[in-house]
Amino acid sequence: MADDQTMFPQHIRALKPYVPGLPIEQVARRLKLPVTQIAKLASNENPLGASPLALRALADQPIDPSRYPDADCTDLTHALAAHLDVPADWVVAAAGSESILGIVASMLLASGRSAVYSQYSFQAFVNAVQRVGGSARVVPSPGFTVDLEAVANAIGPDTSLVYVANPGNPTGTWLAPQALEAFLKRVPSQVAVLLDEAYREYMPAERCGDSLAWLKRHPNLIVTRTFSKAYGLAGLRVGYGVAQPHLADVMRRLRAPFSVTQSAQLAGAAALADSEFLQRTAEANRQGLAQLGAALQRMGIEALPSSANFVLARVGDGADMAQRLQRRGLIVRPVANYGLPEWVRLSVGRSEENARLIDALETELQAPTDSK
Ligand SMILES: Cc1ncc(COP(=O)(O)O)c(C=O)c1O
Repeated sequence: MADDQTMFPQHIRALKPYVPGLPIEQVARRLKLPVTQIAKLASNENPLGASPLALRALADQPIDPSRYPDADCTDLTHALAAHLDVPADWVVAAAGSESILGIVASMLLASGRSAVYSQYSFQAFVNAVQRVGGSARVVPSPGFTVDLEAVANAIGPDTSLVYVANPGNPTGTWLAPQALEAFLKRVPSQVAVLLDEAYREYMPAERCGDSLAWLKRHPNLIVTRTFSKAYGLAGLRVGYGVAQPHLADVMRRLRAPFSVTQSAQLAGAAALADSEFLQRTAEANRQGLAQLGAALQRMGIEALPSSANFVLARVGDGADMAQRLQRRGLIVRPVANYGLPEWVRLSVGRSEENARLIDALETELQAPTDSK
């Protein structure tokens, strides 16, 4: 067998595996517990489940799995265009917004080109750049928010892409609309900006900028959103990017044909109308963030302010705490891979799950370390 040195290019050899939250079934098997006793608070999923309108659409319209899905995602694209009030040729549906992050990297990067992003950015930015052999200019983030001034200053002659997530993952911190708008004005027109809004629906209205209006003024802007979080459709894999046609056309050419299943297209289009579920989701999340925030403060645990459906908390040894919580049937996310070994990311769950997490954290923080 050829050795890896000769078979793979250097940038592929350097790829690190994406570390997802552990599946509930796996932890249940390990602990010999029923799945109902496991709380997964590790992947920022919707604890209320899926949009009821999406579920109804799936039940009402059986999918024939022997047929390929609509490669153009026609109905979903038009539903999105109507919902967002943009032309249909600005919309690119994909198998999760993460695949748009990758499509954009392969559209704009190659060896010798760079992307700029902030320290503590979503791991998928890092991987997307690396997969296509681009280099990264990583901007320090001492305050756990994206330093937009420093990001603009880091753009170099080899830079063709900037990734910014608002709110950020794993930080949960957000950017003021005025600051983002001023930043967009500073970015040279030949450098694309991908604004990742995976958690937008959780942001209080006054913190939300009008990113779709910015698209009209900035032909180099790409906005990505997803059905995985607030709409509760993570398992179906459907998200989208919005950009002016000169970018959207190329993105569509790079999208793997038939990658969005018919079920995902159908459910996504139906979920768009589920404003009642979105409101309920945002309200439950607001209450959950308050519940977790108050408890963490009471316990003296530092936590970052969050505009998303999770909170980053400094617990000492994050990997160890995640292990100990897992033994209690609570799956949370250690974030040492982000350079944050003292922190864990806690997704907001249902109120009883949050209460269980708070109790377990309290007990574990009091436990002597030799009881690990
Ligand atoms: C910041 C951010 N962007 C994008 C995604 C990708 O979501 P999906 O591919 O499920 O749409 C996630 C998922 O965790 C995320 O945290």
